[in-house]
Amino acid sequence: MNWPINVTIKEVGPRDGLQNEQSFLSTEDKINWINQLSRTGLQSIEITSFVNPKWIPALADSLEVAKGIERMPGVTYTALVPNRRGLEKALEGNVDEMAVFMSASETHNQKNINKSIADTFPILEEVVKETLSAGKSVRGYVSTVFGCPYEGQVSIDNVIRVSEHLFEMGIQELSLGDTIGVANPKQVQEMLNVLLKRFPIEKLALHFHDTHGTAAANILAALDMGITTYDASTGGLGGCPYAPGASGNVATEDVLYMLGNMGINTGVNLEKLLGAGRFIQEKIGRSLPSRNLQACLTNERGE
Ligand code: HMG
Ligand code: MG
Repeated sequence: MNWPINVTIKEVGPRDGLQNEQSFLSTEDKINWINQLSRTGLQSIEITSFVNPKWIPALADSLEVAKGIERMPGVTYTALVPNRRGLEKALEGNVDEMAVFMSASETHNQKNINKSIADTFPILEEVVKETLSAGKSVRGYVSTVFGCPYEGQVSIDNVIRVSEHLFEMGIQELSLGDTIGVANPKQVQEMLNVLLKRFPIEKLALHFHDTHGTAAANILAALDMGITTYDASTGGLGGCPYAPGASGNVATEDVLYMLGNMGINTGVNLEKLLGAGRFIQEKIGRSLPSRNLQACLTNERGE
């Protein structure tokens, strides 16, 4: 086995996790949760998105959240930004890193951001350029890399084309999104075999949703190929409202449990992360998908 010794977990729960929630979590609770996450040893937290609140009402308080959180030294606070308007707000909120996003499939791109792939490039190019000239860092997401809810299979050529454009714009890291959680380990390795011939390994991250229970296996497949950055969401919250059938991200607690027991270092304290998971589950008011969170809560109750 060829597993890395150190892995970086990027927590996306406050953005990807909450964007799909029907009820509005109060700004105070969001800030409290992010502050707890900041104390777990996580190096990166995606705190919100600066998109149109008509489209994503759950994150309509993005500026208040960005302004309200405590900034822990060593933690990068990221926000999802679709265009110049979002960037201006994110800069006002003093976000450290912008995450631009688009899809490898035309239909999902259109449904998600109301633009064709071709029309999205110049908009993101402007965001990336201005982010870099503001002295901030920028990561890019490509969605529907392993399958599209509208088009089914997505060709590797489409993934390469969109990824190349994003790197040409100047993004510093690319997160490959399994938006609807359909990937399997064989597909992950086949995709990475192609992408690693074109892009530097340290600039690639993986973003698995866990709709079919394959996310941990997919991470293992990617670890085996040397990928060291993974997005995950506390409790396994998450989903894209414009991707029908998509369920939550792989749960941060579950990834930490697996990696920790494999002797792979993440720098994140699982106990503290479980505390943040317990908090958000209580606030959301239903049992969250994380297996490790539920196992710990059951254990605590002595069942
Ligand atoms: P649009 O309607 O095409 O935008 O939206 P527009 O430029 O034509 O403007 C229309 C209206 O939107 C105007 O307002 C603008 O002011 C407003 P009106 O005059 O009608 O009142 N507007 C904005 N308002 C606030 N903030 C902004 C902004 N921009 C325009 N930044 C837009 C284009 C992208 C904004 C819209 O389609 C949108 O907000 N989409 C949300 C998409 C989204 O958040 N999806 C979920 C995140 S992506 C994801 O989950 C996948 C990922 O996790 C990876 C994976 O899993 O694969 C990242
Ligand atoms: Mg996602």
